[in-house]
Amino acid sequence: MTRKNLTASRLARNLSRMVRSCTPPILEKILFPKKANVGPVPPANESVAQCSVPFIIPAVPPTELWPGFEQTEVKMIPGQIRNHLWAMPENELLVLSVISRLLAPKRVFEFGTFTGASTLAIAANTDPQTRIMTLDINPENRRSHRTGVGSDIPFDYVIGESFLKTRWNSKIERLYSDARNFDTKPYEGKMDLVFVDADHTYPFVRNDTEKALQMLAPGGVILWHDYRWDDDTPECQGVTRLVNQFHDSVGECREIAGTRFAIFQSDANFRWQRQDSPGSSGPHPLAFDDQSGSREAA
Ligand SMILES: C[S@@+](CC[C@H](N)C(=O)[O-])C[C@H]1O[C@@H](n2cnc3c(N)ncnc32)[C@H](O)[C@@H]1O
Repeated sequence: MTRKNLTASRLARNLSRMVRSCTPPILEKILFPKKANVGPVPPANESVAQCSVPFIIPAVPPTELWPGFEQTEVKMIPGQIRNHLWAMPENELLVLSVISRLLAPKRVFEFGTFTGASTLAIAANTDPQTRIMTLDINPENRRSHRTGVGSDIPFDYVIGESFLKTRWNSKIERLYSDARNFDTKPYEGKMDLVFVDADHTYPFVRNDTEKALQMLAPGGVILWHDYRWDDDTPECQGVTRLVNQFHDSVGECREIAGTRFAIFQSDANFRWQRQDSPGSSGPHPLAFDDQSGSREAA
């Protein structure tokens, strides 16, 4: 696809998104019959036609990752459901709820709150003592913020609207900052689960992942959304590229088959040292290189 065609198709897609966000739900069903969000899972290592970044990490069914997955009971709330391209569909909310129940994290950090559907999946399915920090752009800056694909944040919504009026709201702290400027110092080494689901272009996912590593507790888990993506969201190749690199150079990741999630589960000895700390020579002397994504010495 040429650059010109790509820009035209992006414009058409953005226009269609704008029309969709103003269309009443009943008309939307007729005008925009929903494409399956998650299709059959191609075998690991198979690349999608338009994709320049192959899906290389092993895809594993959740039942293999967590015996007992299918029998786990979870809570889901109708207020989580939103008909928007950015919103997580019900099947993935279900998987995220089960993962939250099984991992039982005490401290969680989320990049990308949006309407708070994923935040609520985690909050409603963890202990009452669990604390969840969730980060998004300050709504006052939403109009001026340029995303990684150069467009505005298109949709008028209240950050966290899915959980604000629920009994789980008190477990959740909303933080406002561009993730690039977010200081992880107060949270270093403390998070049992970090969920990465903000801007999906490579430099942003790289920023969020480096910060996830800084905040990760020994034995903690990083979960990325949109490792697998479709033609509507080519910018999510940034996630694929980053997770592939991470898998090669930091630690083994798995794609959760039947979903767009990828996961890294650290072990109890896991320690990440900040690249900017004086005399840094941690067990993972790695920095992601912007251009090639190749490993470089810290
Ligand atoms: C895909 S949505 C998150 C969806 C949400 N996790 C869910 O499942 O309901 C991405 C969110 O990330 C936020 N975002 C985008 N770029 C960001 C940045 N640089 N810093 C912080 N948040 C960002 C957007 O405002 C948006 O609300």
